[in-house]
Amino acid sequence: MAEVAGGVGATAAGGGLACGSQMARARSHPAADALVIFGITGDLAKKMTFCALYRLERRGLLSCPIVGVAVDDWGTERLRQHARESIEASGEPLDESVFDRLAARMSYLGGDFRAQDTYARLAAALGESHATVFYLEIPPSLFATVVQGLAGAKLLGERARVVVEKPFGHDVSSARALSAELHRFVKEPQLYRIDHFLGKMGLEEILYLRFANSMLEPVWNRNYLACVQITMAESFGVEDRGHFYDPVGALRDVVVNHLMQLLAAAAMEPPAGSDPETVKDAKFAVFRATADARPRHYVRGQYDGYREIEGVSPDSGTETYAAFRLEIDNWRWAGVPVFIRAGKCLAVTQTELRLLFKRPPRLGFLSVEHRRPQPSQIVFKLDPSTGIRIILDALRADARGPREVALDVEFAHAGGEGPAPYEVLLHAALQGDSSHFTRQDSVEETWRIVQPLLDAPPPVDRYAKGSWGPAAGDQLVARFGGWHGPWLPDAER
Ligand code: BG6
Repeated sequence: MAEVAGGVGATAAGGGLACGSQMARARSHPAADALVIFGITGDLAKKMTFCALYRLERRGLLSCPIVGVAVDDWGTERLRQHARESIEASGEPLDESVFDRLAARMSYLGGDFRAQDTYARLAAALGESHATVFYLEIPPSLFATVVQGLAGAKLLGERARVVVEKPFGHDVSSARALSAELHRFVKEPQLYRIDHFLGKMGLEEILYLRFANSMLEPVWNRNYLACVQITMAESFGVEDRGHFYDPVGALRDVVVNHLMQLLAAAAMEPPAGSDPETVKDAKFAVFRATADARPRHYVRGQYDGYREIEGVSPDSGTETYAAFRLEIDNWRWAGVPVFIRAGKCLAVTQTELRLLFKRPPRLGFLSVEHRRPQPSQIVFKLDPSTGIRIILDALRADARGPREVALDVEFAHAGGEGPAPYEVLLHAALQGDSSHFTRQDSVEETWRIVQPLLDAPPPVDRYAKGSWGPAAGDQLVARFGGWHGPWLPDAER
């Protein structure tokens, strides 16, 4: 690595510390010798990237120079100052010695993404660096331009990889077209598509708990389960993101990507090996077995006041709430409906996965006035905190008689909260572990699953802010006792 503009001393940081993901995986690529971030002056870098890099630096997990590229007329000092302000604004306490180490890695290269000269200057700055991570924090419409520029400057050798931000397509055909465009210059295994849910510890916890506990795995199937419920409730609205959100809606914003990844963690078979492709194969098998969603099992809602937001059309038909039913047609899951709901301006903020067991028969050994036992449940909560809860029906001594009792573990109290998603993802990209990124076949399958809902969307029902969405969303699960939960932080119960 030659010194890049502004000067970068690539101090090799010690490895061996706890990395982002607790599940060490075989690598697809060697550890990176440079990180190049396109769009470093943008909003995502300000909100997420600098802070994630700072935390990685603090843990001793960064070992390469960082080159920021953008069209703005900035220099390295301005970039460093911007990084400092972004980290401080995030509320992260700033340790000067850690920041100095991070700042020393950074340099800035200004240039037009459409000009080949930009890539020639980048190549000169990178020198002998070949295992470079190119992170594109730019609109998808520019992905191909940048990748073509990188290829033109011979920067995309087989050890390099390209990390792209979501959204990856708008539907099946646009996702396919985008992949085809990028594949002209970069091979699929070199393309690391971000879905930040794949950086959440909760998803790895689910997979681990399922298969690390012999008491869970045998009941995790259609013989014992009545249904699966996935809830992603957000109590905040679209706020200042109207321009982005209105052409997108809840289904594209969080369901086809984030919640489908959560579904895969809940439903996949144990991967037969730790290499990224084998892990991705297991996820793909779940999506492949999932039937096309049906519009008659789809409810859309829009919260009151949404159309007044800047950037939202006054007669917008975009959903801010989506609830629907899916079926996975394989031996483990056939006949167990999966209900998914996601919404903004709902009563609380909480994302969870809930499994409801089949209801036991009436207990003949109890007197007739005793109610039939309630089905047992297993709940994994992912956000804002992580934890597992098992709900059992128990005979209590007091006058209220039998009722549900909850056995809870908050993971924050048992080992602490894990690293933030962008720390996990950036670290994985730098390490060459592609298992935290999505693959083209799965991306296409997830779009295929929801495509009928995009093609024939039902009208949107209005709902009050702070409610649980439209009543039709509750009717969808009425046969299964309605939506259960979510399991809330103690303070909100
Ligand atoms: C983003 C969506 O991808 O995920 C947002 O664009 C959503 O609308 C966010 O709020 C949720 O992510 P998290 O990590 O806060 O649950």
